[in-house]
Amino acid sequence: MKVRKAVFPVAGLGTRFLPATKSMPKEMLPLVDKPIIQYAVEEALASGIEEIIFVTGKGKSALEDHFDRSYHLEETLKERKKDLLLKEVESVVPATGTIVYTRQNEPLGLGHAIWCARNIVGDEPFAVLLADDVIQTDVPVLSQMIEQFDRLRASVVATIEVDPAETSKYGIVEPDNSFSDDVVRIKGLIEKPEKDEAPSNLAIIGRYILTPRIFDILGKGIVGAGNEIQLTDAMSMLLEKQPIYAYNFEGKRFDCGDKAGFQMANLAFALDRPELKKELMAFMKELAC
Ligand code: UTP
Repeated sequence: MKVRKAVFPVAGLGTRFLPATKSMPKEMLPLVDKPIIQYAVEEALASGIEEIIFVTGKGKSALEDHFDRSYHLEETLKERKKDLLLKEVESVVPATGTIVYTRQNEPLGLGHAIWCARNIVGDEPFAVLLADDVIQTDVPVLSQMIEQFDRLRASVVATIEVDPAETSKYGIVEPDNSFSDDVVRIKGLIEKPEKDEAPSNLAIIGRYILTPRIFDILGKGIVGAGNEIQLTDAMSMLLEKQPIYAYNFEGKRFDCGDKAGFQMANLAFALDRPELKKELMAFMKELAC
């Protein structure tokens, strides 16, 4: 079955960016000149996703407005003959009916947020994208993963190798012996283990393709690390019934949920823009002196 739907859990509180996120969703923080959520939505659409499912919460209306038409703004840009900007603004809005919204009434964890989308996803495989993880690459990571899913016909999660001192920030994979260059069959999973308990340094990042069976497990509401309903725990239970594969994708990942990672992403994406590069390079040289 084709992967047609993508779930975007965006109901978190974004506490690491307070006070910026007191009244603005974390997902709306701009990476150069686009909110980070837009990068993930563009990635999904470029990977052939037909339905975008946002799991939102209180205080996230700016996000809904961003993906909606803005007639007043568009008229003003038209009058001022700002054609390029107008095109840019219009291109943000996917075709009518592509986006569906549901709410997570309480931020009980990532696993719970995904479970909130169960009736909209239905009985088919689906993708999950966490906007915090922005990936610079030529081929969209989700499209690379869909290719793997079509080949393996099983759940696939995106992984990176992290510094062993950082395993306590991630869901960590215990790899099976059988692995090729970039795909590893997963034997076990642990959420945020300390360095000594981690079975590897292979960490899950915010891109998943899951089978709908995960909803039955998430529905049990089992609370894990941080007193939250964790997706990693549910995937660990799914492993008892179905295989899951880790996929080491091609591309550079930035953790935009973290202050340093967010600044690095801004720098990397800005340096990728010819109109900004020269000025920024000169400024960085000045700072380094
Ligand atoms: P994070 O833990 O990175 O986001 O969750 P957060 O909780 O918003 O941020 P901090 O840690 O307080 O700064 C990863 C993703 O899961 C969503 C978040 O919105 C984010 O996109 N999430 C998390 C939910 O939708 N619901 C939750 O209950 C928890």
